[in-house]
Amino acid sequence: MQVNGKEQRTIWLKPENPSVVQIIDQRFLPHKFVIEDLCTLEDVYIAIKDMHVRGAPLIGAAAGFGVYLGLLEGKGLETCINRLRESRPTARNLFWALELQLNALEQSKSGDLIAAALECAQRIAEIEYENCKKIGLYGLPLIEDLAKIKKGNPVNILTHCNAGWLACIDYGTATSPIYQAFDKGIDLHVWVDETRPRNQGASLTAWELGQHGIPHTVIVDNAGGHLMQHGMVDIVIVGSDRTTRNGDVANKIGTYLKALAAYDNNVPFYVALPSSTIDWNLTDGISQIPIEERDDTEVKYISGLVDDEIKQILLTPKHSHAANFAFDVTPARFVTGLITERGICDANESSMQGLFPMH
Ligand code: MRU
Repeated sequence: MQVNGKEQRTIWLKPENPSVVQIIDQRFLPHKFVIEDLCTLEDVYIAIKDMHVRGAPLIGAAAGFGVYLGLLEGKGLETCINRLRESRPTARNLFWALELQLNALEQSKSGDLIAAALECAQRIAEIEYENCKKIGLYGLPLIEDLAKIKKGNPVNILTHCNAGWLACIDYGTATSPIYQAFDKGIDLHVWVDETRPRNQGASLTAWELGQHGIPHTVIVDNAGGHLMQHGMVDIVIVGSDRTTRNGDVANKIGTYLKALAAYDNNVPFYVALPSSTIDWNLTDGISQIPIEERDDTEVKYISGLVDDEIKQILLTPKHSHAANFAFDVTPARFVTGLITERGICDANESSMQGLFPMH
C-alpha cells in the first residue's frame, strides 16, 4: 500500500544489508512512522511478543524471517523454532510459518541452510501477499451487491481491530475487499472499532484507511450494537487469528459481541482469512484455541500523543487489578461466511473442505 505516496510493505530485507530485516514498528503509529532494524532471533522474538509487528499473517512472516536471522547468528534450527513458538500463542499463522521453515530446511539438509531459510521466509511473505490480494477479489462482489441495494448511498462496513495491510504483508484480510471496492469507485464508509485495550482500530486501521483516502469513523467498542439496531451497518467484515475446521473463529477480543449484535440485527457477518489461519487439527474453537492473556498494564494505561511525545497515561486506580484476554471465539453459527483466497465458503467443515479438499 502507499504511505505518503511511497509503496510500502510491512516486512522486508534491508536493501543495503541482507542480514538485516526491516519492519514498521507499529507501536508508534499513527503518530510516528518508525522503521526498525531486526538483526537477531531475539530481536524478532521481542518484536512479535511486544507487538512491534502484530496481526496473524505478519506474525507468521516475521517468524519466518526470525529463523533466517537465528541461523545467520549460528543458532540451531530447534533453538530458533522453540523460541519463536513462545512469542504469541493464538495466531495459527505463526505455527504454520514455523512448520514451513522446518519442512524447507529438512528438505535441504545437505545444502545451504541459511539460503534455504531466507528463501522460505520470502516465500511465506509472498504467499500471504498473494492470498490477501485474492481475498479482496473474492470479497469485492459482497460490497458490489450491497452498493446496488444502497442505490447511490454509501455502503457502511464495520470492522474490528486491525485486519488491514499492517496486520499482513499488504492489502489486509478484512480490508482487502474494502480497498478493492473503493478503488473501483464504490461509495463506502467504514466504522472502525477503537479496539481496547491496545486500540489497533483507532491507531492502525484508521491510519491505514486515511492513507488510502477511505471515509471512516472511529467508534468506541460498545457502539456497534446501537449502529446495527439503527440500520447504520450493512456488513461486518473482520479478520481471524485462528479458525478451526468447524468454522469457529478466534479474533481480537470483542469480535464475538459484534457477531452477536450482527446476528440479532440480520447484518451479514463475514470473516476474511488466508488458509494459513485455519487450524485443521482443531474441531472446536471455544475449548481448544489457546487464548493469549497479556499484561494488565495494557488495560490500565492508554498510550497517546502529549505535547508531541508518545506517553502512557494511567486510567484506572493504581492498585486495581485488570484482566487482559487478547482474543475471543465467535462460534461458527454466527458467521455468515468465510472469505478466503479460494473463494467464500460457509463456516462449517464440509463447506471449508469444499474449498480446501487436501484437508
Ligand atoms: O493482537 P493483534 O493486534 O495481533 O490481533 C490482531 C487481530 O486480532 C486481527 O484481527 C487478526 O490478526 C486478523 S489479521 C489480518
